[in-house]
Amino acid sequence: MKRLWIILALVPVLLIGCKQHNEATEDAQMRVFVDQLMAKMTLEEKLGQLNLPVTGDIVTGQARESNVAEDIRHGLVGGLFNLKGAAAIREVQRIAVEESRLGIPLLFGMDVIHGYETVFPIPLGLSCSWDMAAIERSAQVAAREATADGICWTFSPMVDICHDGRWGRISEGSGEDPYLGSRIAEAMVRGYQGESLADPETMMACVKHFALYGAVEAGREYNNVYPDDFHAFNEYMQPYKAAIDAGAGSVMAAFNTVHGIPSTGNKWLLNDLLRDQWGFRGFVVSDYCGLEQLRDHGVCTDKEQAAIQCLEAGLDMDMVSAGLVNLAEAVRAGKCDGRLVDAACRRMLEAKYKLGLFDDPYRYCDLSRRDEVVLCDAHRAEARRIAGECMVLLKNERNLLPLPKRGTIALIGALANTRPNMSGTWAVAAVPERYKTVREGLEDALRGTGAKLLYAKGSNLMYDAAQEAIGTMFGREMRDPRSAEAMRQEALAIARQADVIIAAMGEASEMSGECSSRVDIEMPDAQHDLLVELKKLGKPIVLVHFAGRPTVLNWETENLPAIIESWFCGSESADAIADVLFGDVNPSGKLTVQLPRHVGQYPFSYRQMRTSRLNEAGDFNKFSTCYSDISSKPLYPFGYGLSYTTFEYTNFYLTDSVMPLDGKVEAHVTVTNTGKRPGSEIVQLYISDPVAKGVRPYRELRGFERLTLAAGESKEVVFVLDAERMGYFEPYHLTWTLEPGEMQVMIGANSRDTQNLPLRVL
Ligand code: NOJ
Repeated sequence: MKRLWIILALVPVLLIGCKQHNEATEDAQMRVFVDQLMAKMTLEEKLGQLNLPVTGDIVTGQARESNVAEDIRHGLVGGLFNLKGAAAIREVQRIAVEESRLGIPLLFGMDVIHGYETVFPIPLGLSCSWDMAAIERSAQVAAREATADGICWTFSPMVDICHDGRWGRISEGSGEDPYLGSRIAEAMVRGYQGESLADPETMMACVKHFALYGAVEAGREYNNVYPDDFHAFNEYMQPYKAAIDAGAGSVMAAFNTVHGIPSTGNKWLLNDLLRDQWGFRGFVVSDYCGLEQLRDHGVCTDKEQAAIQCLEAGLDMDMVSAGLVNLAEAVRAGKCDGRLVDAACRRMLEAKYKLGLFDDPYRYCDLSRRDEVVLCDAHRAEARRIAGECMVLLKNERNLLPLPKRGTIALIGALANTRPNMSGTWAVAAVPERYKTVREGLEDALRGTGAKLLYAKGSNLMYDAAQEAIGTMFGREMRDPRSAEAMRQEALAIARQADVIIAAMGEASEMSGECSSRVDIEMPDAQHDLLVELKKLGKPIVLVHFAGRPTVLNWETENLPAIIESWFCGSESADAIADVLFGDVNPSGKLTVQLPRHVGQYPFSYRQMRTSRLNEAGDFNKFSTCYSDISSKPLYPFGYGLSYTTFEYTNFYLTDSVMPLDGKVEAHVTVTNTGKRPGSEIVQLYISDPVAKGVRPYRELRGFERLTLAAGESKEVVFVLDAERMGYFEPYHLTWTLEPGEMQVMIGANSRDTQNLPLRVL
């Protein structure tokens, strides 16, 4: 018997041993393969592997004529990006494989950010599910679809932490918290890459934007960033590291500088930190023209110099600048070390090897698989389910929601009947013509119920047509030529007939995303004015709010009984919104960015560091840290979100009030669904370290668990506390440390409403 136990205990050890042995053998085989291939390559061909030109209009046929196609034939291209379609990609791959001297296959990348044709919620929305399995699944589905359509490399996940709602790209990240952001980064990498990149249904992830891009000053796109090392490591760096540890195959350098040096040409960042300290073994790609922008940053005078600096810094692939590909002369003249070219080329070839492209360059271009999986019913059903988890119920006075499927419902708003806005920003592969509008979603949900749905647009997005055009780029112009008054009167007439008004309003999808920084983050004027008039009718109003960023919802909170933050929830938004409105889905999303009272509060995070003039209450108090005209607290705190049921937290205790530095203590809490319907709750663990060498936030998230409970059901949640969970990067050395002293352990339903217990660390 004892022997059996010993054998069973050894099984995992043997399995790990075998896995390591297999990996070592595979690595050795890959090295031999790449060595042999590189021995045949000219300098120009090696540099060609580092080149990621703009794809432009390469499609079947045209590829043969364009310059890019000619470069591919000469072995001067390593990959292409944002080219869509298995057939088109197959044709371009054919040129590389059959018409270039060495037949090295190309990498095909794309901004598959939150789904492919099946679009999931924008990453900010997705993060509000706090559901790691769902997030991983979304990436897995995206990979399944994209790889069936020719793509083997995605420029995702974007893991930039952001404390500034003015920055449009806050929509592409997972919010403001590095702990949660790290868990999401890992889940995304796992989802994209699966167990093995050799699996034709997985694709290579690219962690971006390394580093600190989310800290752009004043939230202005492409601006500089200034976190010092202490804040960089404690607030921003962890999600990049988590993604690397999860095995991400590539990293994209950010546009911004770090320590005054552009990330793309920053040796400390790419070689010292990423490779030497963090052990990253994949390749680094620049962002779009990031290499030649070293000139714009003013750190060099010409492209050749920029290319040399970037190569020396550790950049492997150059997106669009065509800087690295032209370095042959500099190498021959001794201005640039040819061994660096070899190292970068090796990393590019290894990526292709791992993706199985040398075994079968067309493995991602299986046309029959495309028809079967892309935007298939099963994927759409998953996207609808996940979208339902991401919506955040901000307010629900007197349980106005869920709405009964009866009576007359007026659906009003600039976002109520638009298709292209549903998927949200950065949905390169989206096919909006196949997605429903909110109006269609509600019609489908109400069909056969006897309830009547009336609709009026009510207003344009905003009064200023030029501003509206900016916010609806890419031909998504939604301007209604009628006068504001005519539209308003029509909406009021419709609303008068209804029992309840659903207002689908907020931002258009392109008002957030890349280069969509804004200082006005309130409800756009025309929509606000319409809401004011609708309110005068005295009917209940449910606001279904669209946004790609945290916005200011003061008036809405004061004046409307129910608000759902629906973000942009992807291709299945319309059905998911109907599911939540009518109670087929009980909302469970919680904010991963707090919502401000005023744009002037930015930069702003629940992770407020202690200051010399403490003011945790946030009200005006002369000579403490505060504003004299508004509370410095958020309107809705980080971690906040309501449900159609209620939850109670009881029996919170620690298994010990003292924890040795190298010990463990458990925090227990019992959560009970005290309402009448099943629901999911996100239980959150925060800690506070009031006295430490380095200043720490008042509270910081260090654990969470998503629970689903039947009505009346209770479950106990247990978090294990130890130095790993409770530490921080101490000042100067930046090593992860836990210091002895009195700490607080906090558990609750959001970052504001917690129960606290002391824990002495010895
Ligand atoms: C620029 C963006 O910053 C980056 O996120 C994206 O992946 C590239 N363009 C490629 O489209």
